[in-house]
Amino acid sequence: MAKIFITLLLTVFSQTFLAAVGDPTFLKSIKLNPMNLKTENLSHFRFYWHDILSGSNPTAVTVVPPTNNITTTTAFGQINMIDDPLTEKPEAGSKLLGRAQGFYGLISQEEVALLMAMNFVFSTGKYNGSTLTVLGRNPVFQKAREMPVIGGSGLFRFARGYVQASTYSFDNKTGSAVVEYSVHVLHF
Ligand SMILES: *[C@@H]1O[C@H](CO)[C@@H](O)[C@H](O)[C@H]1NC(C)=O
Ligand SMILES: *[C@@H]1O[C@H](CO)[C@@H](O)[C@H](O)[C@H]1NC(C)=O
Ligand SMILES: *[C@@H]1O[C@H](CO)[C@@H](O)[C@H](O)[C@H]1NC(C)=O
Ligand SMILES: *[C@@H]1O[C@H](CO)[C@@H](O)[C@H](O)[C@H]1NC(C)=O
Repeated sequence: MAKIFITLLLTVFSQTFLAAVGDPTFLKSIKLNPMNLKTENLSHFRFYWHDILSGSNPTAVTVVPPTNNITTTTAFGQINMIDDPLTEKPEAGSKLLGRAQGFYGLISQEEVALLMAMNFVFSTGKYNGSTLTVLGRNPVFQKAREMPVIGGSGLFRFARGYVQASTYSFDNKTGSAVVEYSVHVLHF
């Protein structure tokens, strides 16, 4: 009888003692949403990209010329640096929404195709200062081209999506072009 009593006493004591020690250090609860991400949004944008190669204020400049004269029809090897205006309408004077800054290189010996690496830097409204990054292949003389959106900043954190590009106008003397961009992007 005494033995049972002592065992009971020890059990009660050890449980009280453990409770007093508090939460064990090997266990910690983690917030489900540590970065306080809100719901994911799907956004769609449409704007016009102006690549101006001639005149006194070109927005695209060749920084590396084509490497040889065998593939001049596709300008294979050429690299252009760009700071192209993005506007609401196709006309050059229409509302400026931001700029496309980056570069494109001519990557094909069979057709005119670009590797594009550019950031859309928005400068309007709540998107001012936010960016989207596009990296992809652009066979410019095909009617519809698609390139991935691989990231973003500001309001476009965690962005992923795609752009569809189609040429609105092309000047075959200067190489300047206006291209319509339709952008679908998921972001938080
Ligand atoms: C291409 O380059 C080679 C070597 O520089 C030269 O001999 C040749 O004449 C060039 N061809 C053309 C069509 O310019
Ligand atoms: C965008 O942000 C820049 C820098 O913060 C500021 O100078 C500019 O006035 C802003 N533009 C608009 C349209 O809000
Ligand atoms: C996401 O969508 C909600 C609801 O339409 C909106 O209130 C919020 O501003 C959007 N967030 C961004 C970053 O656009
Ligand atoms: C340039 O475009 C004009 C009008 O579309 C066309 O008549 C001309 O043949 C083209 N020139 C070249 C070199 O492709």
